[in-house]
Amino acid sequence: MSQSVNCCNQDLGALGYRRLRQSKIIRDSVKQVRLSKSQLMQPLFVVEGIAQKEVIPGLTGVYRDTMKTILTQIESDLKAGVKQFLLFGVPKGRNKNPKSFDFTASAIAAIKKKFGDRLFLAVDVCLCSSTPHGHCGILNAEGDHVLNSQTVEALSAAALAYAKAGADCVAPSDMMDGRIAAIRTTLDENGFDRTLLMSYSAKFHSKFYGPFRVAADSAPKGELKLKDRATYQIDPARPNDALLCSERDDLEGADILMVKPGMPYLDILADLSKKILKPWAVYEVSGEFAAIELMAQNGLIQKEAAHVEAWTAFVRAGASIIITYGARYADEYFKVADSI
Ligand code: PBG
Repeated sequence: MSQSVNCCNQDLGALGYRRLRQSKIIRDSVKQVRLSKSQLMQPLFVVEGIAQKEVIPGLTGVYRDTMKTILTQIESDLKAGVKQFLLFGVPKGRNKNPKSFDFTASAIAAIKKKFGDRLFLAVDVCLCSSTPHGHCGILNAEGDHVLNSQTVEALSAAALAYAKAGADCVAPSDMMDGRIAAIRTTLDENGFDRTLLMSYSAKFHSKFYGPFRVAADSAPKGELKLKDRATYQIDPARPNDALLCSERDDLEGADILMVKPGMPYLDILADLSKKILKPWAVYEVSGEFAAIELMAQNGLIQKEAAHVEAWTAFVRAGASIIITYGARYADEYFKVADSI
């Protein structure tokens, strides 16, 4: 085999791969991964009982909205070209066994009434913002574990209330067993067979959710035996669990599967998206997003290009949908990233 590196131009020999990196034009034309704004989904928080919208520490440009300000926010997001949203409702009342999902449902109804099919509205289904202790489910009397079937029942009721209010998609993020089948059945039996189901199927027990828990007021709190979510979210050191849960949620009827967080779990996304052929979403969670923002605020990183680099990695690893706090800034990120 002739290795002609030595006989030719030292810099660009026969094995020189740099020829294709010489100019922006050629680099752009040989890209294998192309990001599109249509892949991005913007999370929204609507909070009961606050008088005006509030900033969220770490999440620049993302707010805890009131029922009123959320409509203005969406209006401006639509103008910026965002079409997909993931709504988190944060009700005022808390209940150990949540039965009313009216606050979030009324926000959904207001959003769909105003914007209809101009947007695709996914709604997070979980109990962590509704329970006094902040766990994602209903606890047993001793408070040392989450009761699976009681929780799945409450989640199904929430999903039905959201579908009735007009949600295009419900997205359970609790990590209970069997909730996809239960929600699908409940929706179908009530005539909501067209409502999509996006499962947080590979959701890990992560420290990167920090800023979100402030936004959704959902951190486990109080004197609890169960201090964290390790008994229901996936152990970062057990990738097989992510595969098993995703295969199950696929079979139980999820339309879209998800890996969460994103960047520290790219290996999981790359692996699972090859094994299960349904569309994959990836959640660039609050801590990942905030890390880029905080580095930028300290002059350590070029933020717009860094955001685009992270999104590119998600698509490269197999994501179709990217849930990101920066969706509404995509134009600006793309423009700056493209110009440097
Ligand atoms: C609630 C939920 C969480 C996130 C989405 N849904 C937090 C958690 O599990 O504690 C995290 C989102 C983020 O960090 O951006 N079940």
